[in-house]
Amino acid sequence: MIKNINHIAIIVPDLEGALAFWEGALGLKVGGREAVPAEGVDVAFLPIGESNVELLKPTVADTGVARFLEKRGPGIHHMCFEVDDIDATMEQLRAHNVQLINEQPQVGHGGRQYAFVHPKSTGGVLVELYQLSDE
Ligand code: CO
Repeated sequence: MIKNINHIAIIVPDLEGALAFWEGALGLKVGGREAVPAEGVDVAFLPIGESNVELLKPTVADTGVARFLEKRGPGIHHMCFEVDDIDATMEQLRAHNVQLINEQPQVGHGGRQYAFVHPKSTGGVLVELYQLSDE
């Protein structure tokens, strides 16, 4: 079952410039900033209700996010739905012939499990699924 939108990820060329809008003008507050060298991004989270706006700044050339910024410019990269059972959700999508990018859930920060759904199957939107660890 889908519980909520966990985050909407936006690729930006620089975090300070992006924060001038999201924090300075719009009034969201930064909940955390993180450098993730393994994924080649600097991240800022801005909580909004149960969700977050997630700003991603590529820091390494030739990653998916860096190529996205180069080819398409800044903008929305993906949206992430929190689900209570990622295996069941992936099975449900497979049953509807939806193409997944990750065939198995990946394990990320804090033990959360995630997987991406191919934009070919979603009308052009890169969709991420999250199952947060249960504590
Ligand atoms: Co994400």
